[in-house]
Amino acid sequence: MNIPLVDLKANYHSIKKEIDGAIHDVLESSSFIMGPFVKKFEENFARFCQVKHGIGCANGTAALHLALLAAGIKKGDEVLTVPNTFIATTECISYVGGRIKFVDVVPQTALIDIEALEKAITRKTKALIVVDLYGQMPDMKRIQEIAMDHDVFVIEDAAQAHAAEWNDHQPGFYGDIACFSFFPAKNLGCYGDGGALITNYDELAEKLRLFVNHGRKTKYEHTIEGYNYRLDALQAAILDVKLTHLSKWTDSRRNHARFYDKNLPSSVGRILEAKGAKHVYYMYVIRVQQRDKCITYLKEQGIECGIHYPIPLHLQPAYASFGLKEGQFPVSEQLAKEIISIPLYPELTNTQRQYVVDHIKKFIQS
Ligand SMILES: Cc1ncc(COP(=O)(O)O)c(C=O)c1O
Repeated sequence: MNIPLVDLKANYHSIKKEIDGAIHDVLESSSFIMGPFVKKFEENFARFCQVKHGIGCANGTAALHLALLAAGIKKGDEVLTVPNTFIATTECISYVGGRIKFVDVVPQTALIDIEALEKAITRKTKALIVVDLYGQMPDMKRIQEIAMDHDVFVIEDAAQAHAAEWNDHQPGFYGDIACFSFFPAKNLGCYGDGGALITNYDELAEKLRLFVNHGRKTKYEHTIEGYNYRLDALQAAILDVKLTHLSKWTDSRRNHARFYDKNLPSSVGRILEAKGAKHVYYMYVIRVQQRDKCITYLKEQGIECGIHYPIPLHLQPAYASFGLKEGQFPVSEQLAKEIISIPLYPELTNTQRQYVVDHIKKFIQS
């Protein structure tokens, strides 16, 4: 049996007619840049997330960059975030000249350590990027309270967390701005690059709409210098179709996760779903001592796995100049040595998930 980590082809085939129709409609309209398809998706996505404004953009990295620009982060401003994330989370801090400051995570959820976060805030801290890693939000109510006490702007990196919830609220409710990626493998993914920002604040939405499209107020009038960070219409039309299936796909992901929770051997470490959180399982992550051997064994059985992420950002060559050393963020470092992302996607069959469990059991027993 061959089981991929994600199966994008199976996903396409489950909605082929709708997708093909949507692509055809865009081609027939010749409305490729901005226009009605982008507007419709932005409105539908904002409604789905239960926020006031949705702004499509080129990808999740651009979304984070735009969020920091809208927050007014400038040279020397400190921005706090975690080391166990994709480098896009921190790249955007450097784009605006901000100073990256890491805060470790807690082992149970692999999400930001909120006590450590509060201690890390200084007078120079101007923003915080909360990462909803693997599809789970941390205690955003507490984070919002801390941020308000210290006048810190909150950006949610929800690239992996479409439809996730904390206390029944999705990203965008507690934070000032939430950023999404629609990279193909994401829970809501397009067929290329895509991203979006959501916010409840009119003023921020207005700034974001300017930044995303050359600072344009009208076709030939530029209020400011901006960027060409637009979401293209073909991707918007594809996303609009997929959005109508997202709740069903999320239920399916959660159902597979419950199966793994119940059937994987108890000696296998897990990333837990915290009380108050609705985890949407972009990745189902286990912790195994002999991680590399386990991945090799599973690969031999036709099971594809991933590691999200094997090198914490503070130890990446790109950040060598920070002079940070092994031992400074011990939880992120330990996780990086043990984590394995195992196959989980809406179209995973009962036979496939049982096969994954059987082989993890076999590896543990050996
Ligand atoms: C946590 C996180 N942040 C940001 C990004 C960047 O998104 P994109 O690849 O769409 O630029 C990703 C996606 O890979 C991500 O997983």
